[in-house]
Amino acid sequence: MKMTPELRERMVHTALEARKLAYAPYSNYPVGAALLTASGRIVTGVNVENAAHPTGMCAERVAVFKAVSEGERKFEAIAVVTGNGGSPCGACRQVLSEFGLDLLVLIADGEGKIVWETTLDQLLPGAFGPAHLGK
Ligand code: THU
Repeated sequence: MKMTPELRERMVHTALEARKLAYAPYSNYPVGAALLTASGRIVTGVNVENAAHPTGMCAERVAVFKAVSEGERKFEAIAVVTGNGGSPCGACRQVLSEFGLDLLVLIADGEGKIVWETTLDQLLPGAFGPAHLGK
């Protein structure tokens, strides 16, 4: 998949739309994610909170787990939209890293403005990964 300005926009727009479905009654911090697979699909995720707080899940990991459960393991980019342009948490960085550190990460605010464009290897230097387990 060649990343183009149009595809960037589509990913951010998809994450913005997904964010509307976030279930975040406790934090009031809805997050939307859009994960681009090597096959050209865009798989969305939202944060899903719970009254038993630690059992909630971040948008990025929901997107990864959805994608993997649907047979996708190669990812090119992820767009993450929050109200204020917050960046993926450490746990999400780790989960994403399992599938490749060269992932493009687009971080956008609630208006869909990209506030930071980076890569996973920049977000998680020195990552522990499959190679450490001989995989
Ligand atoms: N959250 C995400 O969905 N992704 C992140 O990378 C950061 C945090 C969610 C978790 C929780 O539902 C809310 O944002 C506030 O932490």
